[in-house]
Amino acid sequence: MPKSKPIVIVANRLPVQRVGDRFVESAGGLVTALVPTLKARGGAWVGWPGVSTPLRRFRFENFRVQPVHISEAEEDGFYNQFSNRTLWPLYHDAIRTPEFDHSWWRPYVVVNHRYAKAAAAVAPRNGLVWVHDYHLQLVPAMLRSMRPDVRIGFFLHVPFPPEELFAWLPWRERILEGLLGADVVGFQTQASARNFSRAAREYNLAEGTDTELAVGRRKVRVGTFPISIDFQWFAEAASKPESLREASLLKRRLGASRKILLSVDRLDYTKGIDLRLLAFEAMLKRKRVRVSECVFIQIASPSREPVHEYAQMRVRIEQLVGRINGEFSEPGRVAVHYFRRGYTREQLAAYYRAADVMIVTPLRDGMNLVAKEFVATRSDYSGVLVLSEFAGAARELRQATIVNPRNIEGMADAFETALNTSKRDARHRMAILRTIVRRHDVFEWADNFLEALAG
Ligand code: ADP
Ligand code: F6P
Repeated sequence: MPKSKPIVIVANRLPVQRVGDRFVESAGGLVTALVPTLKARGGAWVGWPGVSTPLRRFRFENFRVQPVHISEAEEDGFYNQFSNRTLWPLYHDAIRTPEFDHSWWRPYVVVNHRYAKAAAAVAPRNGLVWVHDYHLQLVPAMLRSMRPDVRIGFFLHVPFPPEELFAWLPWRERILEGLLGADVVGFQTQASARNFSRAAREYNLAEGTDTELAVGRRKVRVGTFPISIDFQWFAEAASKPESLREASLLKRRLGASRKILLSVDRLDYTKGIDLRLLAFEAMLKRKRVRVSECVFIQIASPSREPVHEYAQMRVRIEQLVGRINGEFSEPGRVAVHYFRRGYTREQLAAYYRAADVMIVTPLRDGMNLVAKEFVATRSDYSGVLVLSEFAGAARELRQATIVNPRNIEGMADAFETALNTSKRDARHRMAILRTIVRRHDVFEWADNFLEALAG
């Protein structure tokens, strides 16, 4: 039975972090999804501890933690540069121009090889190894050459770009060969899965259909596995008396009669934070909705700060917030509240619960878990979700108000409409959204992938 087989997870980051002299579970979608699975099956997690001092392998609960050591110079070439200045922008519709620097490719290969070696060392005979995300696309083929006995899965959390963009990459064949080393390659959407299969055929590295490729005599299954969240956790956390108290306190402090528009993102240029601020500004300029009636809260957690494009986006956002507040705020009525910090999941649940309109408008996003988290917290069936058509989540959450994040006036219209949505309409849509997220939670996602991998 697939459920009983131990697994080895290989992901850029470890699921634990050091707090004082002990390790605690880190927050984040992947950890929530896979730690329970690992605890149930046993196995190992191979990843980077995020510090440059080497760490020994250790046990956490009933699985093994295998740290991969990355020097500071390698961290820069592998993570900041190749992963986040070449692959990240290229895979997100080239929203920022990707840089193709040959000196960054080498650390990407070296670090991928180190992850593959670490996985090869811990994987049991004929075991299952599940590799994650764009940082580690060479690992499947490297691992296969070291350990032909294991079954290898790969899941890409970000979009796989269309052919015309993927073709820009000087190392495109190497990346495809790396991924084709897996037995199962999984994507968030059908479009990404199709883009990958087409690229593999285009470069004559595989034959077959969009869902099953042949590399010589070996079969590679290509599938769509939309990631999700721990629905139950968010639903329960947001319904706790502390969260409800927190949410109503927040509403009182902002002005009980004001409707709250909320956004929660990593501070990333793919998230469209600047464009949605412009849309909020456009809405206020129309003077049909005033700051006495609504407030916009943008929560943005600092992310990848050494990367220039991220620092630039921070400056742009902060200028826009200043501009909008300078123009529209009134004494005791700030138009935009901007909180650049991380929150606990419990705190986020209270914010989600306080919001009237949740605005999730990335320019491109593999999935976007924030949209699903918001839905899970609305056990009173209130609240409206405004969602970008370019988020993977839009394929599933069709009852949301779907917008084009580049259409500023269109988004302003959508915000206005969302603020005026009747309780009945909101309730009807939220009921459908909640059914979808409840049925397809993160545990189902992990089970589906592992079932496909077990063959
Ligand atoms: P990405 O993977 O690109 O960051 P997602 O929306 O899929 O985007 O996932 C983001 C995750 O990070 C969600 O689980 C969300 O709750 C969490 N998150 C976002 N902003 C914050 C914040 N300010 N503090 C804590 N967690 C956050
Ligand atoms: O969604 C892509 C992703 O790389 C996730 O895997 C990760 O949790 C998130 O972005 C944050 O990125 P980083 O690990 O670079 O802080």
